[in-house]
Amino acid sequence: MTTGRTYVVGITDHMIGKPDLEAAVLGDDVEIDFFASTDEASFAPDRLARLDALMVWGARLGAASIAHLTRCKGVVRYGVGYEKIDLAALGRAGIPFANNPDYGTEEVADHALAMILSLHRRLFEHDARARGYTSGWQVHSLKPLSRSNRATVGVVGVGRIGTAVVNRLKPFGFHILGYDPGQPPGHEKAVGYERTDRLEELFARSDVVTLHCPANGETRGLLGAEGLAQLKPGAIVVNTARGELIDDLDALEHALRSGHLAAAAIDTLVTEPPQDHSLLTAWRDREDWLAGRLVITPHNAFYSDHAAVEMRTNAAKTVRILLDEGRLRNQITETP
Ligand code: NAI
Repeated sequence: MTTGRTYVVGITDHMIGKPDLEAAVLGDDVEIDFFASTDEASFAPDRLARLDALMVWGARLGAASIAHLTRCKGVVRYGVGYEKIDLAALGRAGIPFANNPDYGTEEVADHALAMILSLHRRLFEHDARARGYTSGWQVHSLKPLSRSNRATVGVVGVGRIGTAVVNRLKPFGFHILGYDPGQPPGHEKAVGYERTDRLEELFARSDVVTLHCPANGETRGLLGAEGLAQLKPGAIVVNTARGELIDDLDALEHALRSGHLAAAAIDTLVTEPPQDHSLLTAWRDREDWLAGRLVITPHNAFYSDHAAVEMRTNAAKTVRILLDEGRLRNQITETP
């Protein structure tokens, strides 16, 4: 099929349906080929071979598809994380890759703060239990419940989102620890947190641990059985980063059942939608022992109406710049 247009840009899948916003940003000389699927196996080789650029939302992109991207000048992911993209195969094919790093920074930081504050205030536990109170209404205070300026929050990964979290925590008076080997000396002074050089120290000293680092070989299972055991008894864990950081649901269930972990809030899981697991069954069934102590949101910490527009506009702009200037902004250059 010929459309008379100069470029063909593929979009694998999209959370919002029709790629109209992308079309407006990309312009009239771009034909959009919308695959409308997260199933990589459904991407026909002849359609891949026509693409000048490819935009990816939730689909996996592996070597088999990449082999057919023979015209492609760049692949752009709508989101921040790129563990589903085979960077090595793209590298071998000579195709640069970019993510979309900053569209939802405020939203994820707000989401993490909402989780931290509500679990620290034991909001959901109070709500779950108050339904059953018929007398002595106000005497049912849950203990322990510390004042925010007596509590310590440990931030793992003080990049864009981690820094936005630190900035939001400060006015509440929390003592803030940060662990991030990638940030230069003095970053803690500029941003305003106490740096720990060892993760174990942050785990041992924090009342709340909030995760904001990427999922990679080093961080996978960061809060598995061993990490969870290093936490302060009664600690709270918040994960708006990646499910792989807390990849062992057995260990998480054990920590919650034993009470070693007071509560957890999770926006991202290794498998989404989540598969069956006894912890998730207890959560779904609102089992009494877990009431208000496990909060799960469906990987939408990034979302606001504004962030969604920004995400789609920014990703499409990245492609437009690539087509016009041959340069890929936000290019990921790390070698896998
Ligand atoms: P960023 O790249 O700005 O910051 C990540 C920080 O983690 C960097 O400062 C890096 O030095 C640090 N880091 C790397 N390895 C580390 C390690 N082993 N221990 C501690 N720190 C380490 O990334 P950004 O934008 O702040 O995103 C952070 C996380 O949030 C990513 O995992 C991303 O995938 C996730 N995310 C989740 C969203 C959601 O909807 N739940 C939306 C957007 C991002």
